Amino acid sequence: MKEAERAIMLELEAQYCSYGDTVHYVDPAKKFAASAGGFLYDEEKRSYFDLQMQYSAANLGYKNSRLNRVLNDQLQILPHLDGKYWSERRILLEEKLSLLTERRFGIKGRVCFSVGGAGAIENSLRLVRKATGRNFHFAFMGGYHGRTLGATAITSSYRYRRRYGHFGDRAQFIPYPYCFRCFYGLKREDCGLYCLKQFEKLFDTEYYSFWDSMAGECEFGALYMEPIQGTGGYVIPPRDYFSGLEAVLSKREILVVDDEIQMGFFRTGKLWAIEHFGINPDVIVFGKALTNGLNPLSGFWIREDLIDPSDWPPDSDSSVSPQGTAVALEVLRIFEERDFASEVEQKGAYFLSCLRRLKEKYPQVIADVDGLGLALRIEICQGKDQQPDPDLTNRIFHEGLKGDLEVEGRLYGLVLDVGGYYKNVFTLAPYLEITYQEIDLGIELLDQLFARFENRVYPSSIDEF
Ligand SMILES: Cc1ncc(COP(=O)(O)O)c(C=O)c1O
Repeated sequence: MKEAERAIMLELEAQYCSYGDTVHYVDPAKKFAASAGGFLYDEEKRSYFDLQMQYSAANLGYKNSRLNRVLNDQLQILPHLDGKYWSERRILLEEKLSLLTERRFGIKGRVCFSVGGAGAIENSLRLVRKATGRNFHFAFMGGYHGRTLGATAITSSYRYRRRYGHFGDRAQFIPYPYCFRCFYGLKREDCGLYCLKQFEKLFDTEYYSFWDSMAGECEFGALYMEPIQGTGGYVIPPRDYFSGLEAVLSKREILVVDDEIQMGFFRTGKLWAIEHFGINPDVIVFGKALTNGLNPLSGFWIREDLIDPSDWPPDSDSSVSPQGTAVALEVLRIFEERDFASEVEQKGAYFLSCLRRLKEKYPQVIADVDGLGLALRIEICQGKDQQPDPDLTNRIFHEGLKGDLEVEGRLYGLVLDVGGYYKNVFTLAPYLEITYQEIDLGIELLDQLFARFENRVYPSSIDEF
């Protein structure tokens, strides 16, 4: 796009757009024109290796030919269908998701679809209210569940609520086991899961405000959790944390709502990331990768005994697009045909070993790397006390988008995502079909980026880039 055309578009945007549906632009605003596999392409056809894939929505790669064919066929045959008409695909998809989940946890449940992750979170809040009679919940510091009124109530960042306040549900936020930056300043080696003990302590006496020991009732209906925090910076908890937590919660009849919107569908090498941690959630909320991000189809799975038909009768949510159910069935077929569990585990282990080498090479920039399957993190810090360095993180992010990294005579850019409590973490979610050669390419591109900043000599302002 020529400079003059860009200026006209920015002017139109200033006049007519709300900006609320953007995140933030890099400066100058970056525009992509095409995509395929794990790559985005700009208008000059330069390749940008995407290591975040729309927050883990496009797990099976951009322009996936099988999914595009199914979507295209559905568009030709029956693109719309209101919920009052019978849909075989919806039934088959709900059956498939229920059985896949039952196989994992040994619990029968039901599935209900919705549109968009936050919409499905809202539905789960409604059902938790109905099942428990409560609209107070526990949720984690650093947790993210969406931007609707209900979802922002259980999302820890106050900035999402600041302008609009509360509508109904409220949450008590507790520290997530983010061991690299422990809330209590402890070290994992000898903490004895102190954070879990602190949580359990809340129920010691009614004077700690959560628990009526005479009635044996808690004021809180559910705990909302992400098995690995997404926006919070791909924080991976200790393997024994959630089982300990489940014991505390089940004793007090507090439900566990597992938000798999970002980590579900094999991002971590399991259908549901919570499977790594050996607990049985009461509700699972999913979205994004169910349709490879092609259609905003989301939903929840809930234990059979928590969804009485009279509590969730027909017309409880809007109808579901046949485009979404067609693509989702094909996504699940692809997952069934290939052994994604071991593939993702092996590729993730290889990727992480390469990241560990980068950490050793750039100790003045990278303070922590970690990963579970292909959910990987790089935490950028400075100084011996590992202070978060959001400024440097932002600079590296911008530098990746310049598109001037060179490998074997070809120019590349790198698409990263910045997350974390201090906005100093690169959260990596490459597409699951990434090849080992592409992992090497990604590592080479990261290496070149870090090399440009290892001595922390850079222009004083990002505008100078
Ligand atoms: C863990 C988690 N929950 C909920 C959401 C909200 O989903 P959506 O943006 O589709 O409303 C997201 C989106 O990134 C997410 O990562």
